[in-house]
Formats: sequence, C-alpha cells, structure tokens
Amino acid sequence: MKGNLDTFFKPKSIAVVGASKNPTKIGHAALKNILISDYECKIYPINPHEKEILGLRCYTKVAEVPGSIDVVLISVPAKLVPQILSECVKKQVKYVIIISSGFSEIGDHSLENELRQIINNTHIRVLGPNTMGYKNASDGLDASFVFGVPRKGNVALISQSGALGIGMIYLANNEFVGVSKIIGVGNKLDIDDDDLIDYFSTDPETKVIGLYIEGIKDGRAFMNSIKACHKPVLVVKAGRSAAGARATASHTGSMAGSDKIYSAAIKQAGGIRCRDVVELFDMAQALAGQPPAMGNRIGIITNGGGLGILLTDACEANGLQIPKLSAKTFKKIDKILPDLIKPNNPIDLVADAGFERYEAATSALLEDPNIDGVIVASVHGGYARPREFTGAILKMVRQRKLHETYKKPLLATWVGGREFEDLVWDLKAAGVPIYPSSWRTARSMHALYLEGERLKREENED
Ligand code: COA
Repeated sequence: MKGNLDTFFKPKSIAVVGASKNPTKIGHAALKNILISDYECKIYPINPHEKEILGLRCYTKVAEVPGSIDVVLISVPAKLVPQILSECVKKQVKYVIIISSGFSEIGDHSLENELRQIINNTHIRVLGPNTMGYKNASDGLDASFVFGVPRKGNVALISQSGALGIGMIYLANNEFVGVSKIIGVGNKLDIDDDDLIDYFSTDPETKVIGLYIEGIKDGRAFMNSIKACHKPVLVVKAGRSAAGARATASHTGSMAGSDKIYSAAIKQAGGIRCRDVVELFDMAQALAGQPPAMGNRIGIITNGGGLGILLTDACEANGLQIPKLSAKTFKKIDKILPDLIKPNNPIDLVADAGFERYEAATSALLEDPNIDGVIVASVHGGYARPREFTGAILKMVRQRKLHETYKKPLLATWVGGREFEDLVWDLKAAGVPIYPSSWRTARSMHALYLEGERLKREENED
C-alpha cells in the first residue's frame, strides 16, 4: 500500500527489536543512534533477556509496549524475523525497518517470500531487509546502525548499498554537499525507490534526489516516479558490465537487466544518469547551489589557453555550445585585456590575469543574453594569483547577488596545488562548485542544462 512516508521519517515512537547491552552488536548501535539523535520521540528497546538497556526500560516483545509504535527496527538473526514481523502486524505498527541480512541476497528467496506473505493485505510498510536504515538530517533523527553524521542540506540520497551509503555521507561532507535524508533500501521487499522519489518530490527539505541502484523491481513505477518528480533525479546504476551484473546478484539479490535499456529509460523519464558516485556529487553540488541553465550556450573564462580548449572540448562532447561572443560582450572584454590580445570564447585572460580581468569578464558573460551559463577557470601558472580568481567569483556571489541578478549558473575549474586547495573551500562554502577537472565541470554544466530543459517541459505541461 502506497502512502505518505512522513510518519516513517518523523515518528513519534520507535522500538528496536534485538537491542543489546553489548556495544559490539548492531542492535546496540541502532538503539544508541536513536538515543543520541537531536530528536524527540519515545524509544523502546526490546530484548527478552534484559530489564534495561542504555538507561531505557526494556520490553520482552512488541506486544508488551504500551500504546502504539510508529517504527520498529529489527536486528535479530534472519530466521527470527518472520515471527517478529507478524507481531508487528498484530500490534498495528506503521513501519518496520529490517536490518537483518540472510534473505534473497544470499539466494534465500523463501524466507523473503514469507515476509511478503505476512505483510500482504496489511497497512504495514517495510524497509529492507538487509538495510542500514535511514538518517534524517533535516529533523536530526538517526534511525540507522551506522556511523557518520551528514551535514544538513538539501540533497536526498537513496542507496541500495549500505556501505556505499555511508561512504557517500563522508564524501558529501567532504564536498560540502548537505544532505536532507539518506536511506538504505536493501532488498526492497516493500518500500522501493519509486516510493521514496514520490516522497522527496514534495519534501520541502529536499532540492535534489540522488540514487545508487543495482536493480529495479518495478520499472514502470520507477520511470513514472522520475517523470512526475518536480526535482532533478540523479541515478547511478551499477552492473553495467557482465561481471558487474553478476556481482549485483550476490550483493542485493538484484537482476541488473540490460544496461542500454536502463540508460534509455532513465533519460526518457527525465532523470540524469551518472557514471559513479563522485559524478553524482559533482552534479548534486551544482544542482543544489546554482540555478539551472535555461539553454546550452556556455561562456568560458580562463587564464590558460590549454585549459580553455579542454573545457570547450568537454562541453561540446556533453551537448553544450561555446558560441562566439556578441559585439557588445567583445567590446566590454577587449577593454580590459592587453592590446595584443583579442577576446574569443573561450576567453583567455592570459597568464597575469588578476581580480579586475576576472571580475569584468565574468560579469560581461553573465550580462550577455546569448550566454546561458558561465565557467570560470584558473591554472596556477607562473603569474596567477588564485586568491584574485576566487575573490572575483566571491564578489559576484556576495555583492552582486549572483543568482537573483543573473539567474544563470556559474561553475569553476582549477588546476594547481596546495595554495589553491585552501581557496577551493571558500567557493564551495559559498555554493559555487569548483572542480579540478574540465570533464567534471562540463558534466555538471550538462546536468544544469538538463534541469533547465526539465523545467521547461514541466512548464509546458502545466
Ligand atoms: N526479540 C528481541 N530480541 C531478541 C530476540 C527476540 N525474539 N531473540 C534474541 N534477541 C536478542 C539476542 O539475545 C541479542 O541480545 P543480547 O546481545 O542481549 O544477547 C540480540 O537480540 C541480537 O541477537 P543475536 O542473536 O545476538 O544477533 P546478532 O546481533 O549477532 O546479529 C544481526 C543480528 C541482525 C545483526 C545479524 O543477523 C545480521 O543480519 N547482520 C548483518 C546486518 C547487515 O549488515 N545488514 C545490512 C546493512 S546494509
């Protein structure tokens, strides 16, 4: 049964079946994560052998808990799960998270089918089995057993791999990408990617949705959810190769299916397929921090001709155009360049470019109605001063109110060493994605262009 997952992510009461005093056990970690969350709710440890765990009164079984329970986390060996799930159905629990492994991912479909039978024709919703649970960073609740605290932000992450999900939390923190919710879907017995895309589509805390998937159970529902979603959906689909497809079968019991069909289906539904999780975060950063590109005409600024050409090639390879400069823009930029240098697109500000040239060229491109997005690049060459390059961009963001004024995306690229690395954080913190690769920059601009196209389609359909 479908339905809004609001109570799932914001429960008033949670029970942990298999809660343990033993700090090495998953049931201990899950209970502790809930307890130390910056979130108010009733918490019930359940273990037939204990009276109290982590200072909380312990219950012998779900039925013994007074009042209703919104969410039950199960962390006991697989063979005990059907019995506990039946008790949850009887108790009219709303949601169950089955952390336990030992189901279809190890080839045991009968045990998973048993769970399916138990919840058939009931209102209960199940996440997992074989899941890490979720972390709701928007509201401060950690209903998982794993470490890692995501920076609060507006990217929702759905991962079929628990371990990769955790890796993504650290990667997101490192890349200054804030997360609204991160959820492991495991074997997807019931709660599936489409349910979560539907929920995040209207979640006010979420601006971008990212998925790591190994297999899709209901292709039509998945595509319909992406199509109906009001936000950009980024998809990493693993198992492209024959060997990779074999590996997905033993990881989450998924059938990888034809890769070409997946690519075509994701594209047709309006999603964006990413090569890997680094690309997902590159694009998520751009989509979360920048306005979409409402066309594919890109202006490039650099202090090194080589980097300008690499960016041009990468943009063209990703369906973007690098148009010639209009007469008005040419004039504005010509004024600030040394006499012998004439501006082109890409605009080479040459090796000794400082704050003034970067600032003037960036604002000229942003003001140009023939340009839909701007890439500003810097090579840490002999004369370059990285602080002046980032300073010019930061001035655009802070003093000129970049997005309100121009409504165009701005991405940055750098090639250099330590001195640059420190400055990169200033830009990321201000919401300007900066990449150490022309290809990664172009791919992210491509995502902003696709988002612009999606918005145009959405507007036309209204
Ligand atoms: N109700 C409540 N608690 C029960 C119970 C019941 N019916 N039966 C047993 N328990 C208790 C146990 O006594 C134990 O508590 P204790 O430490 O106080 O003795 C606790 O529940 C856990 O049971 P135990 O048998 O010790 O299991 P475990 O903690 O070693 O392993 C899992 C359980 C679920 C963690 C394990 O089976 C598993 O699946 N691990 C992999 C999980 C995973 O990686 N998931 C995917 C993540 S992406």
